[in-house]
Parts: sequence; structure tokens; C-alpha cells
Amino acid sequence: MILSPSILAGDFANLQKDIAMINNSAADYLHIDIMDGVFVPNISFGFSVTDAIARHIQKPLDFHLMIVEPHKYLQQCKDTGAELISVHYEVCPNLHSTIQQIKALGCKAGVAINPHTPVHLLSDIIRDIDVVLIMSVNPGFGGQKFIEHTYRKVAEAKQLIDENNSKAIIEIDGGVNLDNSPKLLAAGAEMLVAGSAVFNTDNPAETIKTFKQLSA
Ligand code: DX5
Ligand code: ZN
Repeated sequence: MILSPSILAGDFANLQKDIAMINNSAADYLHIDIMDGVFVPNISFGFSVTDAIARHIQKPLDFHLMIVEPHKYLQQCKDTGAELISVHYEVCPNLHSTIQQIKALGCKAGVAINPHTPVHLLSDIIRDIDVVLIMSVNPGFGGQKFIEHTYRKVAEAKQLIDENNSKAIIEIDGGVNLDNSPKLLAAGAEMLVAGSAVFNTDNPAETIKTFKQLSA
């Protein structure tokens, strides 16, 4: 499994400490939540913060853009160190073009879907993407309760991927914890985002290790 802890749950007054923890941990990525207060009812942080993070982090960055018109910010994501950029299906009228732009930058491309967005809407883009990011909470805030319906969506996404011989992997974001992760992995998820389940523990690096030892 691939683990991408979300810095949204970190201590913004002491990011250096959290970044050092991530660098010395078994985490595969660092998940970066960009929110605009328009697509989601919250604002997180911008590129001045991610530039500072990028100067110290030794893990690849996994950008989750919860913003309208994400195509306007792809170059900035690349410049601030993104390896994977995920945009939301709900805000991309020209999704195919946006995905091609991400790839042209040399990044992996992901498409995120909200809890109400059906998986089958990805049928004509699934061959072109590297990641299907299934939201298991309504985006905008960390620390929310996992939506159980997600398991079914993971199974549907897995089927869609297999039917189309797509190389995409399934990433899950929101309310992921050590209890629901094995079931998510069993349903076909390969990449898990965890914010509060990592950072709100006494020993986050140890928690990351425990996540990494989980299997379906
Ligand atoms: C929610 C964000 C998530 C968030 C996850 O809108 O996209 O990445 O940080 O936090 P937890 O794991 O606490 O639900
Ligand atoms: Zn996220």
C-alpha cells in the first residue's frame, strides 16, 4: 500500500517538525490539500507555503486541488514540487485537456470525485489517468467521519480500471484510519491519505509504520 499523510492535519506553526517526521518515516508521499473557499467551504494554504515545504521535504508531493479552474495553477504545482496532481471531476469541463496538461508537465495525473459523483462518469478518462481519487468525506475539512458507501465505489472503480486495462490506481481520502484501511485495500484501493489518523497520535512516525504494515 502507498501511504500519503495529509499535512492539513499538521501543526502549521511548526511545519518543520512535521516535515522532519515525514522525512524520517515510512510515508510514500506527502498529501497537499489546496482549497479555495469556492469549490469547498474552506481555505487551506497557497504556494508560498508549499514552496517552503518543498525546500525541506524529501518525499514526493501529492497535490489535491480542491479549487475551481485548476488548469490555471498546474504549472505552479509543478514548480512547487508536485509529482502527482489530482483535479476534481466536478470543476473540469475540459477534463481531458486538463489531464493532458498535467502530463505535459511531467506529473502523474489524478481525477478526484466527491461522495455524490458516480464512478462510471470516469469511463471515458480512465485510460488516461494515473490515479482515481475517491473522496470518502465531503472535501474541505480534515477529521470528518468516513462515508461507508465508499467501499462500493472502490469496487466499482476497480472494475472500471480492469475492464479498460487502465494502469490507474485508486487513492482514498477522508476519514481513513487503521480500522477501515484493510477493508479499503481489500476492495481495491492502493493509495491511502491519512490526516488526523496520523498527526493526531502520540507517535505519528510509528502510526505511519503501522499503516504501512497493513494488508487487505
Ligand atoms: C479533506 C482533505 C483531506 C484531509 C483528510 O478535504 O482532502 O486530504 O486532509 O483528513 P482526515 O484524514 O483527517 O480525514
Ligand atoms: Zn485531500
